[in-house]
Amino acid sequence: MNQSIAAKLVGAEYDVFDNFFTTILTDITSITTDLEQEPLSVAKNWLERVCHFNVPHGKKIRGLLVPIFVRSLVKCPSTEKMTQAYTLGWCVEILQASSLIADDVMDKSKLRRGKPCWYLVDDLGTDAVNDSFLLEHIMYQLIRKHFKTTSYYTDILDIFLQITHKTILGQCLDIQTGRNMRFEEYTMERYEAIVKYKTSFYTFYLPIAIAATISNVQNTKLMNILETLAISIGHLFQILDDYLDCYGSKTKTGKIGTDIQNGKCSWLFVRAKELCSKKQLAELCYNYGHDDEAKIAHVVEIYEAVKIPAHVSEFMKHMKASNLRLIHKLENEDLIILFKQLLEMVTEGLN
Ligand code: FPP
Ligand code: MG
Repeated sequence: MNQSIAAKLVGAEYDVFDNFFTTILTDITSITTDLEQEPLSVAKNWLERVCHFNVPHGKKIRGLLVPIFVRSLVKCPSTEKMTQAYTLGWCVEILQASSLIADDVMDKSKLRRGKPCWYLVDDLGTDAVNDSFLLEHIMYQLIRKHFKTTSYYTDILDIFLQITHKTILGQCLDIQTGRNMRFEEYTMERYEAIVKYKTSFYTFYLPIAIAATISNVQNTKLMNILETLAISIGHLFQILDDYLDCYGSKTKTGKIGTDIQNGKCSWLFVRAKELCSKKQLAELCYNYGHDDEAKIAHVVEIYEAVKIPAHVSEFMKHMKASNLRLIHKLENEDLIILFKQLLEMVTEGLN
């Protein structure tokens, strides 16, 4: 998945959303005007630097989903509604940037979006933890500035808080599984729980739930289908992320994989475990979870021997078909088209 695919999905909306970041920066400056005097100006200036480096350079798919879904849920949304959608879309992007700063520290990653991970810039190290909090909390200040007087202020806050909670729980499960390296626990069931919580809720359900809230959607049946679809597409999205962690090129993904050395419960490892002979399984477990070039190479050899890339491709095709069946349960033609495009976009990254 790259910017051009995201741009194709939303057409002209991509540039409008992208340019709206300037407005967000102006908002952040105005929220922090009382910090203009020394010594708090140090924190204000630092926050601006953290924002510039970490927020605007991703694919922006999560943020873009807010205005795209508003357009599918509301006939001819007003300019004011779209401004709210862009603002909240950027709030989702800020939350994503905040999570990624922290995730890269935990995963000891080196590269993000084609640049060094933030904690490696200026040797920040663990000081970057506070920058993750800075971003998370400026996001709540933005929501406060724009939505405090709206009828859905508490609903929006509740969605962000509930989904962040789920994401943190998912990240906890991801880390604890990787630390303990009890490979008998690396099952598809465990994998699905990690992915649902650490990825699907915030990547797909968060922007949809936000769009539905500001569009005043109160259809529980529709919201349940949207949640199921969000979880399922998130599952597909993370399988691709796991595949690219091992097989992707850093020029395309802007990242360098770390799953093998970190002993992560990735789809590739769990599926390889199912496909291995007894001897291969012993070798896989012996070599997995070590920051050692030779051991990492051995794991990849076993992945090749059991044809993991072909299994990823086959499983993704199977999931795509089951998602398409679910999409057709939607009664809104705009939503059907949108989900089909989203599904294409998520699966296209494999090619
Ligand atoms: C990337 O997973 C990370 C996430 C999907 C979520 C990270 C969540 C947290 C750090 C907790 C939430 C924190 C805050 C501040 C709200 P990955 O490592 O599989 O993906 P990658 O390949 O992009 O690193
Ligand atoms: Mg990571």
